[in-house]
Amino acid sequence: MTETDASGSEGGRLVDGFGRVHTDLRVSVTDRCNIRCFYCMPAENIRFKPRHELLSFEEIERFVRVAARLGVNKLRLTGGEPLVRHGLADLIAKLRAIAGIEDIALTTNAMLLAEQAEGLRRAGLDRLNISLDTLDAKKFAEITRRDVLDQVLRGIFEARRVGFANIKLNAVAIRGLTESDIVPLAEFARQHGLKVRFLEYMPLDGDEAWTNDHVLSGEEILAMLAARFGPLAAIEPEDPAQPASDYRYGDGSAEVGLIQPVSQPFCHRCNRLRITAEGQVRNCLFSVQEWDARALLRGGASDEAIAALIRASVGAKRQAHGINSPEFVRPERAMFQIGG
Ligand code: 5AD
Ligand code: SF4
Repeated sequence: MTETDASGSEGGRLVDGFGRVHTDLRVSVTDRCNIRCFYCMPAENIRFKPRHELLSFEEIERFVRVAARLGVNKLRLTGGEPLVRHGLADLIAKLRAIAGIEDIALTTNAMLLAEQAEGLRRAGLDRLNISLDTLDAKKFAEITRRDVLDQVLRGIFEARRVGFANIKLNAVAIRGLTESDIVPLAEFARQHGLKVRFLEYMPLDGDEAWTNDHVLSGEEILAMLAARFGPLAAIEPEDPAQPASDYRYGDGSAEVGLIQPVSQPFCHRCNRLRITAEGQVRNCLFSVQEWDARALLRGGASDEAIAALIRASVGAKRQAHGINSPEFVRPERAMFQIGG
């Protein structure tokens, strides 16, 4: 075992070199997607991974079981778009049955949610985050390169109808593009009992066109909301590790969240670990190093060897992503190849 392996564990838990305890695993189930958001994917000529390179449901299940023994209790399924992976509800049911897993969430663009919501609920999915950056059909088509806003809205309403509570909307905020969408999204969310969270645009776009000037900061968004709804009050975070800073409107009615990875990095409270659709473990969205869990899963390795790999990854985690530093290096993967 190397020194990094050792520093990754403490009493069986996943503790990194900065004392952060890792309990949250994000599992990407596919790199494919049925839309093409410019901040995530290129428009065309995308080389998706062939099916045999993706982890099977059995491989994912085994990996999660090992991670759960190391203290992981929360899962989020991501993509690409996770709902394009056939039989996802079956995977959720399998993961639900793993001892120690207390909460399973899904990040989706909602394109396929109207038909799948009920099955997902029955399989034991706890929570949904739905990506929605604008309510303007034309702008939606500009951002996603597909004219499908209605289908997404149908998915959102169907998810509510089948009983998903606390649905969160994720809206990526982009300077020069979505300023006029902030207030309408906030109003829509309030009206329908949803919670919207505005995300700062990160350098993970497939086109590599991101620059700092495109970032519409959380602070600016808060000012826009305050100008329309009156001052907002900061709320104590429900979960100390959550990336979002939450606010309540003056009348106490609803909540809105800001996720500010660029202007207010939250690396110091990060408890998250990721595995890509092809089974590469990453300790950060911006990680430039990966640990090959698939090779172990397919090579007859023991659970202990997989646990050691997870510990090695956590042990090597950097203090912060450093987006704002001149030495920042973009990861080779774009968002759709990592999972949000
Ligand atoms: N910057 C910020 N958020 C992004 N997302 C995808 N790409 C980016 C980016 N470059 C969002 C999606 C989704 C979540 C997984 O991350 O909109 O809601
Ligand atoms: Fe698809 Fe999500 Fe990427 Fe948009 S952000 S292209 S919905 S994976």
